[in-house]
Amino acid sequence: MLERSRLACDLALRAGAVIRDAMGRRRNVEYKSAVDPVTDVDRRAQEVVVDGIRAAFPDDVVIAEEDEGQQRVDGPCWYIDPLDGTANFVHGLPHFAVSIAYFDNGRAEAAAVYDPCKDDLFRAERGGGAFLGDQRLAVSEVSELDRALLVTGFPYDRREHVDQYLAYFREFLLRAQDVRRYGSASLDLCYVAAGRFDGFWEWKLHPWDTAAGWLIVEEAGGRVTDFDASPYDPWLPRVLATNSRIHDQAVEVLRKITGK
Ligand code: IPD
Ligand code: CA
Ligand code: CA
Repeated sequence: MLERSRLACDLALRAGAVIRDAMGRRRNVEYKSAVDPVTDVDRRAQEVVVDGIRAAFPDDVVIAEEDEGQQRVDGPCWYIDPLDGTANFVHGLPHFAVSIAYFDNGRAEAAAVYDPCKDDLFRAERGGGAFLGDQRLAVSEVSELDRALLVTGFPYDRREHVDQYLAYFREFLLRAQDVRRYGSASLDLCYVAAGRFDGFWEWKLHPWDTAAGWLIVEEAGGRVTDFDASPYDPWLPRVLATNSRIHDQAVEVLRKITGK
């Protein structure tokens, strides 16, 4: 196992323990926008991860959600979402994760996503497969959109663009078996990798939301692209991740709404 891959797993577990210990206690909640909460626990978990990386690899760039002025770099860098699913956490809903990805040359090399409530550690290394604990992950075999269970999320500017986001939701409700909204994009991606969902789409995510899940889905045999099937990059605002079998059918639905 790559040294950085091991570190990603170790730090995800450590930050996850900080979050788990804080569950059920009074939280200090602030709002970055009308519907975008952040807590002291997000910041403490981020500190654990960032300090751990800096101690081990002081020259690597660290791009973490609760910092400011994040910018793309090509060399060795880390993407960190210390608490993905903060709204769930704030409401005591046990579904959120620590998401950590290591990139080099713009490519994900190692990833760890840890759900501290279920003690689920999802991980992947480029070319080495994706795992939940010791179990190797594989995407589902559903090949018809009509039989697919999808998951999505609604961006934080949903109050301004509600009709646009609902147009996608409406179309997939009509075309897929059903659609869920769980509230943690990194886990949505891992659930696609685990074959629990057949596909996931969302607008306006950030690199720290998708960087780790992207590798985990691909290493489990899935496909991740932009809405129009062009190659994905975590700095792009739109992501479609599927078991690969329903990908073209999902792209067709998305194209119908975006008009491209
Ligand atoms: C959010 C979650 C959610 C998604 C939002 C994200 P946060 O991340 O991943 O599922 O719908 O767009 O911003 O703010 O809890 O880290
Ligand atoms: Ca997030
Ligand atoms: Ca977060």
